[in-house]
Amino acid sequence: MSARPYVIDEMISAKEIAARIEALCRDIRHVFPADERLVVVGLLRGSFVFIADLVRELSDRDVEVDFLEASSYGDAMESSREVRILKDLRGKIEGRNVLVVEDIVDTGHTLNHVIHLLESRLPKQLRTIALLDKPSRREVDFRADYIGFEIPDEFVVGYGIDYAQGNRNLPFIGKVRFTGA
Ligand code: IMP
Repeated sequence: MSARPYVIDEMISAKEIAARIEALCRDIRHVFPADERLVVVGLLRGSFVFIADLVRELSDRDVEVDFLEASSYGDAMESSREVRILKDLRGKIEGRNVLVVEDIVDTGHTLNHVIHLLESRLPKQLRTIALLDKPSRREVDFRADYIGFEIPDEFVVGYGIDYAQGNRNLPFIGKVRFTGA
């Protein structure tokens, strides 16, 4: 936990998130065949709440859930350029329909790296969805196929997203505002 005191200002409410997920899933249903299983791959740890809501919204589909963990911020607020796979998928994705779920696309390095890796395994169809996108921070040319909300360059927490491993359990997205020294 940071030594600097801060408060969290709500930016996107739980209700707004739920409505957006409903709309995103309507688009996703058009892309993936209804009679084939969809492998939903969550990037740990930030996507765990988003993926839980997403797969339940897709309860009319045959869905398999898998997880992959790539290194990102560690406990700091700055992204590292070097992406490492800390935990790989349990299942095979060759010839299968895959939806990769990320919490935030910031510089783009993490998802860019992960997508190249997963594409090399020859899925039938691979799409990416990110709850949040900070386009002004991008360092590589990457855009998720589906985006929940575009946000400005603010450090955010909640709905699975952490600051120094805290605040993941907030039901809304809030921005961190440092107060005092
Ligand atoms: P990228 O490789 O720079 O796109 O980093 C993406 C990852 O950085 C996300 O999956 C988050 O784990 C983390 N991240 C980016 N922005 C924030 C933020 O505002 N709050 C918390 N984590 C963030």
